[in-house]
Amino acid sequence: QPATMKVSFDVNGKRRNLELDTRTTLLDALREHLHLTGTKKGCDHGQCGACTVMVDGQRINSCLSLAVMHQGDRITTIEGLGQPDRLHPMQAAFVKHDGYQCGYCTPGQICSAVAVLDEIKAGIPSHATGDFTTRPAITNEEIRERMSGNICRCGAYSNIVDAINDVAGVRA
Ligand code: FES
Ligand code: FES
Repeated sequence: QPATMKVSFDVNGKRRNLELDTRTTLLDALREHLHLTGTKKGCDHGQCGACTVMVDGQRINSCLSLAVMHQGDRITTIEGLGQPDRLHPMQAAFVKHDGYQCGYCTPGQICSAVAVLDEIKAGIPSHATGDFTTRPAITNEEIRERMSGNICRCGAYSNIVDAINDVAGVRA
């Protein structure tokens, strides 16, 4: 008999109470238990970024995190960022710049991209490019470095960078 535990967290502004096998990942809790299938399972091993969601405003790979560790947390998935009739600016920019082909990586790319701009705004440096605040603008190199945990098998990278640049420009 597997061990279960009660967990309660906020998903896209709604309080959700679940009783889960303690081994359930946050990704499986979202997809299998809450039926929020916008968040994708690519590798299930922390290597592709398809499962990226935001927890208390910070991006994580939800396949690497146990759901029961998120007691009281505020989780945002792609469904919480926007809806077809009211797209988040990052979603609209991905549409405008064709930032996808098959679309499987896209929810993770978009959640990651939103968090990247917040990280830049908050002054969190990226590993490869160091302190960006000394530079006048965000470079494509910096965007690529910060987005490097999100793999796209279709190779839509240059359009993804264009989409992020577009939103970064609007926000600056
Ligand atoms: Fe989580 Fe690939 S499914 S990183
Ligand atoms: Fe197909 Fe990225 S659009 S994997």
